[in-house]
Amino acid sequence: MINFVSVSKEFKEGVTARKVKALETLSLDIKQGEIFGFLGPNGAGKSTAIKILLNLIFPDSGKATIKDTDVGDKNVRRFVGYLPENPYFYDYLTAEELLWFGGKASGMAKNDIMERSNLLLNKVQLLEARRRPLRTYSKGMVQRAGLALALIHNPEVVILDEPMSGLDPIGRKMVGDIILELKGDGKTVFFSSHILSDVERFCDKVGIIVGGKLRLTDGVDNLLKDGDTLEKVFLREVNAAGLTEVR
Ligand SMILES: Nc1ncnc2c1ncn2[C@@H]1O[C@H](COP(=O)(O)OP(=O)(O)OP(=O)(O)O)[C@@H](O)[C@H]1O
Ligand SMILES: [Mg+2]
Repeated sequence: MINFVSVSKEFKEGVTARKVKALETLSLDIKQGEIFGFLGPNGAGKSTAIKILLNLIFPDSGKATIKDTDVGDKNVRRFVGYLPENPYFYDYLTAEELLWFGGKASGMAKNDIMERSNLLLNKVQLLEARRRPLRTYSKGMVQRAGLALALIHNPEVVILDEPMSGLDPIGRKMVGDIILELKGDGKTVFFSSHILSDVERFCDKVGIIVGGKLRLTDGVDNLLKDGDTLEKVFLREVNAAGLTEVR
């Protein structure tokens, strides 16, 4: 459902234009209905990979496809929902207007938007706040509004860049429940996270990336079968990569 085939991406950083290999020949194959957790330390390349999937930035080489369609094809967005790492929305919109805007942009009919918007605002617990401008929202509320926006058009593929970030334990559980519900509906979910306990709980498969290189990808059950915790596996991979500096 989601495929990276040998994707590489380099950035030039700062005044010295020092080159950073954000991704090096990343290949991944995520099947329909899978929940995939993308792990890696800060600067590992997770958001770079996600932005490539959303066609917000372009790989130097290799290619990414969703449902066998090149991510450059504009039709892909119809079946993909996306929550960015630091969601930022037009401040004067209310959550209700934000979802209305998202629904309209996805070509949904008025009644469908209203129905879906109510359902999602209820799910992310923003029904009471739905008529307040987003500028009055707390960080967690903006994050939850962003999640509702990502799901407004009932996408088959859901891509979430650190969906639990900035959420309190109740919010984290709520997002977890939504992810599990998406799984129950047969959706494919790709998300990055630093919260290993959540990843352990919700994911079928994880990938660990360090310094732009995918270190491993495996089923959670398989990784934990020898009594390891995900934290142990994660730290082992990060140490084995031998990075001297956090990026
Ligand atoms: N627009 C850019 N210009 C220059 N360098 C960039 C740019 N975007 C990302 N990078 C660099 O690419 C590398 C990967 O960054 P990326 O944002 O993908 O990491 P990440 O795994 O999402 O990290 P985090 O966990 O902190 O969100 C980092 O070294 C980062 O500094
Ligand atoms: Mg990131």
